[in-house]
Amino acid sequence: MAHRYVMAIDQGTTSTRCILFDQRARLVSVVQREHQQHFPKPGWVEHDAVEIWRNVDRIVPRALREAGIDASDVAALGIANQRETTVLWDRHTGTPVGHALVWQDTRTDELVRELGQRPGAEEVQRRCGLPLSTYFSAPRVRWLLDHTPGLRERAARGDVLFGTMETWLIWNLTGGPDGGAHVTDVTNASRTLLMNLGTLDWDPELLAFFGVPRAMLPEIRPSTDVHGTTRRVVPGIRIAATLGDQHAALFGQTCFAPGEAKCTYGTGSFLLMNTGAEPVHSGHGLLTTVAFKLGDEPARYALEGPIAITGSLVQWFRDGLGLIRNAPEIETLARTVADNGGCYIVPAFSGLFAPYWRSEARGIIVGLTSYITKGHLARAVLEATGWQTREVVDAMNADSGLAAANLKVDGGMTADNLLMQFVADVLDVPVMRPMHAETVSLGAAYAAGLAVGFWPDLEGLRRNWHRAAQWLPQMPAARREEEYANWRRAVELTFGWMR
Ligand code: G3P
Repeated sequence: MAHRYVMAIDQGTTSTRCILFDQRARLVSVVQREHQQHFPKPGWVEHDAVEIWRNVDRIVPRALREAGIDASDVAALGIANQRETTVLWDRHTGTPVGHALVWQDTRTDELVRELGQRPGAEEVQRRCGLPLSTYFSAPRVRWLLDHTPGLRERAARGDVLFGTMETWLIWNLTGGPDGGAHVTDVTNASRTLLMNLGTLDWDPELLAFFGVPRAMLPEIRPSTDVHGTTRRVVPGIRIAATLGDQHAALFGQTCFAPGEAKCTYGTGSFLLMNTGAEPVHSGHGLLTTVAFKLGDEPARYALEGPIAITGSLVQWFRDGLGLIRNAPEIETLARTVADNGGCYIVPAFSGLFAPYWRSEARGIIVGLTSYITKGHLARAVLEATGWQTREVVDAMNADSGLAAANLKVDGGMTADNLLMQFVADVLDVPVMRPMHAETVSLGAAYAAGLAVGFWPDLEGLRRNWHRAAQWLPQMPAARREEEYANWRRAVELTFGWMR
């Protein structure tokens, strides 16, 4: 029987989804499960990799059931995942070494500072495109090796394996301790601080610099490539593509050509611009990363501006402060007032990422007077996402020498009209959202479908992109620049709290 569907697994920071797409890229079924966030100490963020694996075990069969199909109807599986989150596990038992350390976790702050003083530190970014930061995987691996007795020896023997979430899931899906494939793809590997951007392989100098044994690292493969066939959960499905979730969203937004960019608004927000076949090194605080690599074709690169806290600020407003009952209520609350009343919130909960890279920065609320209501705070929460986008776009424009003509957006926060209007206002360009809100899953599905010939080429995929909504800038220039200056002064106040 002809394969009629492509499956995507999107293993994200807060939940894991399984989505089935048909040949016209229509969504046929979606099943999602959240997993617990563990915050054992200030700045520490952990996930239980076993819980995530169990969620996959539940959602994949359910997605097939809901679509009324079985594995033989599925042409291929593509996996997209939260990047940089680090899990180590025992090769023989499949048991993780403690919890996975999440990309937002800042426990390696001191280690990163110390590494920054060592010879070779100035070389790191030139080799791998990333600044030394708590954001990436290598310091987490090093921290675990340093803090778990006997682990370094086991890792050096290859008895303990490293992976980001896609590696963990593929290893488990393809057999686990019983011959599971230990692989990653170039996009995920490009977030570790350990891969050389030119050779697309683990860099011996970087491994030595971070003290990470090569024996524990997965093999790096292209983004589209048949990594193996599932032997567990639902046997017999080819795993044909893997991409970090933000790279998958770039692909799902069909940003295949140099100069095309998207921003995904989720827990954090991530603006990526395709820069073509050559890596562009940033002079303005952005990352150089691999956009995707299709089979044997040369890799495509991207510049990226990651923002650590956007949607998770709304979550904090809901769960930490209890000022709203659900995330969409923030828009209603923000609309009870006309402006921010002079109040700004800089959510440096995990330090500040692009363009600052200040791990020691901590969050701040400024401009409080007795006039301020929770409505003003709600506005300041949403505006923080807008201003952080503006900072990244300014850096992107300075690096690429091109002013962005518009911005393609996706992700959960794009349902907030007030926020999207504010983003258009502060960037002074139109902001556009496609019909397909699920760009991460779609990108993983597109890549897997291309790998197995389910979809013939990129041009065909482009034709699936249709605009669903557009926001045009309306804010007067003088107000925009005055408020931006206020924001930047607030950012300056977040530095220097942690001694
Ligand atoms: O770099 C972190 C990023 O990949 C997380 O994305 O959507 O899971 O919050 P998300």
